[in-house]
Amino acid sequence: MKIIMLGPPGAGKGTQARMIAEKYSIPQISTGDILREEVKKDSALGREAKSYMDKGELVPDKLIIDIILKRLDEGGASKGYILDGFPRTVAQAVAFTSALSERDERVDSVINIEVERGELIRRLSGRRTCVECGAMFHVHFDPPRRDAVCDKCGGKLIRRDDDNEETVANRLEVYRKQTEPLINYYEGSGVFNAVDGMGSIEDILKRMEEALEGQKDP
Ligand code: AP5
Repeated sequence: MKIIMLGPPGAGKGTQARMIAEKYSIPQISTGDILREEVKKDSALGREAKSYMDKGELVPDKLIIDIILKRLDEGGASKGYILDGFPRTVAQAVAFTSALSERDERVDSVINIEVERGELIRRLSGRRTCVECGAMFHVHFDPPRRDAVCDKCGGKLIRRDDDNEETVANRLEVYRKQTEPLINYYEGSGVFNAVDGMGSIEDILKRMEEALEGQKDP
C-alpha cells in the first residue's frame, strides 16, 4: 500500500506513521527524519537543510524530490510505503505524481490528520526525541518512565531544535501558505481521507485504520 500522510506540524504524522508502517509491514519514509540524519552526519546536504529547518522554512523542492526518488529506488519499498512529511508543496506533489505515473504506479491513500492549533502547540512544546533510536515521547501525554531517558534504548531524550516557540509559529505559518493547498490538490483524487486527529493516539490509529481499510476495498 502506498500512503501519503498530510497534516500540520505536531499533528501526529510521525507517531501514527510508525504504527501504520508496522501494521502493514511497509517502510515509513519521513523526509524530516532523513534530513535530521544528514544534519547529524554534518554532510553538505545536512548543512544546507539545517539553514532552512532552524528557521522553520521548507528545504527547496529540488533537493527534497531527489531525496525521495532516490529513497524509493533503494529497495524495501516495493510492497509500498508510508510517506510522512512529503509532499509538502504542490510542486513536490506534481513531481511525485508524474514520477509515479512513469513507473505505472499510483498512491492508494492520502490521509490528512486534522488537529486544532492550540493542541498542535501543546504537542510540539512537550515533544522529546531519543538521540539514539528516534523514539518519541511527550512530557505530559506520553512521558518516559525516567526523566529524559528513552524507555526503548536508554538513549538521551532531547527537544528538537525547531520546536521552540518562535520556530513553531513560523512552521505553522509556512504550513498554512505552502502545504495546506495540497488538500485541494488531493481532494478530488478519489483516495483522499480527512481523519480527526484530536483525542488519544489509540483512537486516532483506529480512525486511520478504518480509512485505510475502506481504501483497500472500495
Ligand atoms: P518534519 O520532521 O516533517 O516536521 P513537521 O511536519 O513539522 O512535523 P513534526 O515531525 O513536527 O510533527 P508530526 O506531525 O510528525 O507529530 P509527532 O508524531 O512528532 O519536518 C521538519 C523540517 O524539515 C521542516 O520544517 C522542513 O524544514 C524540513 N522538511 C521536511 N520535509 C520536507 C519537505 N517535504 N519539503 C521541504 N522541507 C521539508 O507528534 C508530536 C508530539 O505530539 C509528540 O511528542 C507525540 O508524542 C505527541 N502526540 C502525537 N499524537 C498525540 C495525541 N493524539 N495526543 C497527545 N500527544 C500526541
